[in-house]
Amino acid sequence: MTSPTIKLNNGREIPAIGLGTWQSKPGEVTAAVAYALKDAGYRHIDCAWAYGNEKEVGEGIRASGVPRSEIFITSKLWGTWHSRVEECLDQTLANLGTDYLDLYLIHWPVPLNPNGNHPVFPTLPDGKRDVDHAWDLKDTWKQMEDVLKKGKVKSIGVSNFSKKKLEEILPTAEIIPVVDQLELHVYNPQHNLISYLKSKGIVPQAYSPLGSTNSPLLTDEVITEVAKKHSLQTSDVLLGYLVAKGFVVLPKSVTPARILSNLTGAITAAERLETADIEKIDALAPGGKQRRFITPPWPVDLGFDNWKSPL
Ligand SMILES: NC(=O)c1ccc[n+]([C@@H]2O[C@H](COP(=O)([O-])OP(=O)(O)OC[C@H]3O[C@@H](n4cnc5c(N)ncnc54)[C@H](OP(=O)(O)O)[C@@H]3O)[C@@H](O)[C@H]2O)c1
Repeated sequence: MTSPTIKLNNGREIPAIGLGTWQSKPGEVTAAVAYALKDAGYRHIDCAWAYGNEKEVGEGIRASGVPRSEIFITSKLWGTWHSRVEECLDQTLANLGTDYLDLYLIHWPVPLNPNGNHPVFPTLPDGKRDVDHAWDLKDTWKQMEDVLKKGKVKSIGVSNFSKKKLEEILPTAEIIPVVDQLELHVYNPQHNLISYLKSKGIVPQAYSPLGSTNSPLLTDEVITEVAKKHSLQTSDVLLGYLVAKGFVVLPKSVTPARILSNLTGAITAAERLETADIEKIDALAPGGKQRRFITPPWPVDLGFDNWKSPL
């Protein structure tokens, strides 16, 4: 099966289902990526400089034998590189062994001290993360636009941007982000932010769509009931619900059977789910099940509903 695609606001197409690679260990990720591309039919891989495994992801891409031109590759700019976008991008390109990305994202709207005490997570003496408060996000976006104009990336977008953070870059942006990659799943549907993104032509990408590691979503009663009704697995319903809404989904797995079923199950579930099922699932979070799983201790207010960072 091949993934349906979604049209971005710059006219390019993105496969709706991509393989996540966060926490995929260097010893596992090469085989997972090769299997996903060669055997399961994926054409979209989600990476990041900060995952520390881009070299092995690149090996998996080459081992698959699938031509580079047929694969949609995303990576992300880490916080310590906001003032040096092209340098971070060049490292990612070298690690992956490619000369362009299909999509480059600002990983978090939190510039970190580039000269701090750690290359990835610099901290202050009080233990809090060392944020570069003097750096303006709109200048990061300008540098993102520059690498696009140079042809090193085909599209640019953001990740973990609330409406408040998008409004810091949009007034001076020459290019509108094509996507916003967010924690999106049945317990964190972010209905208001999704409406805002729609009004701007920005496609939502769902990260942790299965609820990440040791997810309670896989045993949710309502999801299990909907899955039974349509002869699907719960994981299929979790993914199909997001695909049916027109989101990109990025399930991570290093287990071949799951890699395969996350693609085929998502497509089948998106076809089978009825409006009544979607409405029932939409009501879960407002009805009391609202929950976020990914809450790094950024010492800044990111502007999200249902998440207060430790200031
Ligand atoms: N932009 C950001 O800040 C950000 C943050 C988080 C994630 N992401 C991206 O989004 C991707 C997905 O998020 P995630 O890795 O947090 O979580 P996820 O995809 O929701 O869940 C991954 C977990 O579910 C397991 N799993 C996968 N398929 C399954 C299935 N069919 N049935 C049961 N369990 C299954 C995986 O185990 P096995 O691997 O052992 O099979 C793994 O433990 C990441 O890998 C990354 O690419 C981006």
